[in-house]
Amino acid sequence: MTLQFSLGTAAPETVDASCVLVGVYEHGVLTSAAARVDSATDGLIKRQVESGDISGKAGSTTLLFAPSGVTAKRVLVVGLGAQKSFDAARFQKVTIEAARAVGKLPISDAVSYLTEVDVPGRDSAWRVRIAALASDHAAYRYTATFKPRDKSKQAELGTLTFAAGDDAHAGLEQARAIAAGVRFARDLANLPPNICTPAYIAGQAQAFAEGKDKVSCSVLDEVEMDKLGFGSLLAVGRGSVNKPRLIVLEYKGGNDGDKPYAFVGKGVTFDSGGISLKPGAGMEEMKFDMGGAAGVLGAFVAAVTMGLKLNLVCVVPSVENMPDGDSYRPSDVLTSLSGLTIEVLNTDAEGRLILCDALTYTAQTFQPHTLIDAATLTGACVIALGKHATGLMSKHDDLAAELLAAGEETLDRAWRLPLWDDYQTQLDSGFADVANIGGKSAGAITAACFLSRFTDGQRWAHLDIAGTAWDEGRKGLATGRPVALLTQWLLDRAG
Ligand code: BES
Ligand code: MN
Ligand code: ZN
Repeated sequence: MTLQFSLGTAAPETVDASCVLVGVYEHGVLTSAAARVDSATDGLIKRQVESGDISGKAGSTTLLFAPSGVTAKRVLVVGLGAQKSFDAARFQKVTIEAARAVGKLPISDAVSYLTEVDVPGRDSAWRVRIAALASDHAAYRYTATFKPRDKSKQAELGTLTFAAGDDAHAGLEQARAIAAGVRFARDLANLPPNICTPAYIAGQAQAFAEGKDKVSCSVLDEVEMDKLGFGSLLAVGRGSVNKPRLIVLEYKGGNDGDKPYAFVGKGVTFDSGGISLKPGAGMEEMKFDMGGAAGVLGAFVAAVTMGLKLNLVCVVPSVENMPDGDSYRPSDVLTSLSGLTIEVLNTDAEGRLILCDALTYTAQTFQPHTLIDAATLTGACVIALGKHATGLMSKHDDLAAELLAAGEETLDRAWRLPLWDDYQTQLDSGFADVANIGGKSAGAITAACFLSRFTDGQRWAHLDIAGTAWDEGRKGLATGRPVALLTQWLLDRAG
């Protein structure tokens, strides 16, 4: 069941709902909604603050059941942390925790007053958008390949109303579209690689395009790519029975002559490393190596859902990287679509080998206004930035600034690493124009340097989402990043 959102302005003590959510800061500072509930209930919240039952600690939740004096059946008191340091990131955190807590209750509707809380520099539409996306994120369940056990037949949250006026309406509409894109990305990325093959991703893209005005999809198979000269991409795919695809989605929401914005997403449906085989521990996480593909497709879905007035193309090179008697091998020299030759020194640096051909194809075919790729490209990026920031690399300061701003706005944040030419010599090869690895140091940057060889003359940026595309651990799910960042960037371009 998907969560429905609405807006409302009723007072918290009189609203008819299964649960109302109100915020309390540390040191007993009540938000205005909490204060209204408090006075209607004869000081119940303040008494619980005094007793220590309500701490105000950020993300903590305390349930008050059927308190007399309010119409709602329950009040969930949500801790906001210290008021003086309350900021945008904290707002997102508490709305996620609040949605988690509400999700555990046997109720189907709730009204949140957290969207009335003051967030420095942000308006009501922003708060509603973040809160709706956070709630949708928390409500997400993976159910494609099993029935979650231990779930009693309790009611599931179906409607969440946010306290906000009509000025927040646009924020809610955007949230619905972005949430649809995020769900599309998460569903695709969470699927196991025996189901989610290159052909499967192509099928999902085609299914989305089917019957939609202004949207078209075309798919190249390995025979067609071979004719065109995709020597680098096809080498990576050769070891797998799940044959490569190049998926192209086009959306013509803008004027006929307008150059399109172009997204390219790494779609490695499983990355075993190939002949340069990865260690066994943690290899299962490499089913998420198509997170870039999922992310750009999700942003495409969101853009189409919003009916943005711009032209957009989304190109997904998709392969499976497997060891086999016919696999490509270290020391092979490949001829890429661009004509540049590549010496393979490690078959596990495969992402850049499929992206380079896809970037060349996208630039040649569409002459895009701007070209952005998203890829779970390097473990080095995870070492550098961890799980919170996407790595951003670009030679175009204005484009980098636009993407950083879009990340801040949606809290789907990126951080820039340098892409100076000083690093390029690490890719020197004695046998080809370029080597596919750059040695021990600055691995995220040298991967981007490799891609830069194939984006000459393009207004291009690279997003390394290796740390942000999924949550680690046995039950870790795809996050849907960077759908929000990319969609916001498009929204900003559409004016
Ligand atoms: N898909 C991986 C990158 C990755 C690793 C993402 C761990 C998330 C977590 C990529 O194809 C890869 O294997 N990169 C190598 C590059 C190296 C051989 C230069 C890496 O990062 O180890
Ligand atoms: Mn790899
Ligand atoms: Zn990979």
